[in-house]
Amino acid sequence: MPRLIAISNRVQTETEGETANRGGLAVALAAGLRASNGIWFGWSGEQTEEFTGQITFRRANGVATATIDLEAQDIEEYYNGFANRTLWPLFHYRLDLTEIARDFAGGYARVNHRFAETVGPLIEPDDLVWVHDYHLLPLGQQLRERGFRNRIGFFLHIPWPPPSLLISLPDHRELVESLLDYDVVGFQSEEWRQAFMDYVTAHLDADIDGEIVSFGNRRTRMLVCPIGLDTADFCSAAHSMAAKQSQTQLMVSAVGRDMIVGVDRLDYSKGLQERFIAYQQFLTNHPELCEKVSLLQIAPPSRGDVPSYQQIRAELNALSGSINGEFATIDWVPIRYVNHGYSREKLFGIYRAARVGLVTPLRDGMNLVAKEYVAAQDPADPGVLVLSRFAGAAAQLEGAVIVNPHSSEDMADGIARALAMPLAERQERHKAMFDCIVKQDVHWWSKTFMEALEKAGPKPAARLLP
Ligand code: F6P
Repeated sequence: MPRLIAISNRVQTETEGETANRGGLAVALAAGLRASNGIWFGWSGEQTEEFTGQITFRRANGVATATIDLEAQDIEEYYNGFANRTLWPLFHYRLDLTEIARDFAGGYARVNHRFAETVGPLIEPDDLVWVHDYHLLPLGQQLRERGFRNRIGFFLHIPWPPPSLLISLPDHRELVESLLDYDVVGFQSEEWRQAFMDYVTAHLDADIDGEIVSFGNRRTRMLVCPIGLDTADFCSAAHSMAAKQSQTQLMVSAVGRDMIVGVDRLDYSKGLQERFIAYQQFLTNHPELCEKVSLLQIAPPSRGDVPSYQQIRAELNALSGSINGEFATIDWVPIRYVNHGYSREKLFGIYRAARVGLVTPLRDGMNLVAKEYVAAQDPADPGVLVLSRFAGAAAQLEGAVIVNPHSSEDMADGIARALAMPLAERQERHKAMFDCIVKQDVHWWSKTFMEALEKAGPKPAARLLP
């Protein structure tokens, strides 16, 4: 088995005791890294005065990690800048929030170069290299230019935008060409792969044969491979005391009311304002249900140094306050809005206590919360998932009530339909979704991608820097 070198912006280390709800990536990579004695490389999340390229090695639960610190200008221009003020909004179809700045592009190129320089000496000739996400799109090219002929794959965790949006990026062509230095590029859904192929067709002199794009002497396989949960492990959280306590606590606090739950990172792509407005619409349309339902929205803040995130936080505070002011009674609060995260066990109990899971992003690569909500349900009496048609997960979770997050009327109807759904229909929908998340779990995802990468070849000729 070849050794795996995984590279991502952040490296998530395991915590002891009650498990923090680790991202899918940590779970997905752990098994392959342990089995192959591999290394997970990335930014420590820490700032240093001056970049030195010094690597900190750690090992936790059998997973070896290697991290570097970045200097303030790197963090500002690469992470807060190009990654989260340019690429993130653009790739989530928010051209209105996309900031184009040469400093950001320069910082992004510099940090990708720094990643290549520091991870390079760790890579041995037979290693499989797997790069993750929009922070590191050109890293494969950077490695090829240093002579690495390994099999190198890339997985995009977020959407790929249509060509009409992508061309607003000044160096869009260079960025796309850099992706063709990978052997395999993975997308969460067919929609994102098709958008990529549309760009290649319109803007590059490349050949497309099924999944394969040939560009010069390079051949890249474009794979659709939706990320999943560690479903078995997530479901085992059901038996923990913390899960049972949190379910009971919520059921007691709901006092006979139906609970609707939303769990999202505080991000404009998640459609939280639209969701609150749709819930307000639902309460207006169904006065008979006021005091009989309650929305619990969990939204831990993220990327707080980016202005659009500060703004959405302030807007949501105001909106939840105004809806509560309008509808609350002395013993009922329509929205409970919480700005911190919970452990996996507590979340399991929260999902299980909720009659409806509301997952309504305006655009999302996948959305694992949708899958977690389904995994947590009691199959004998399951809750209903209300899911945006613009989440990658909608292509797999056909048993959800699919809604348009841009229409508050449609979402309000979806909530009402979910709350009124008969048991037999809930069971049938849940079974179809549960079967899917068991079959296409996170282990299936990493195995499918790694097998595609292992099969890749022949390796491109080295294109050394002059
Ligand atoms: O979904 C994309 C992603 O960048 C993940 O890789 C990451 O875990 C999550 O968003 C949180 O982002 P950040 O690292 O910027 O807090």
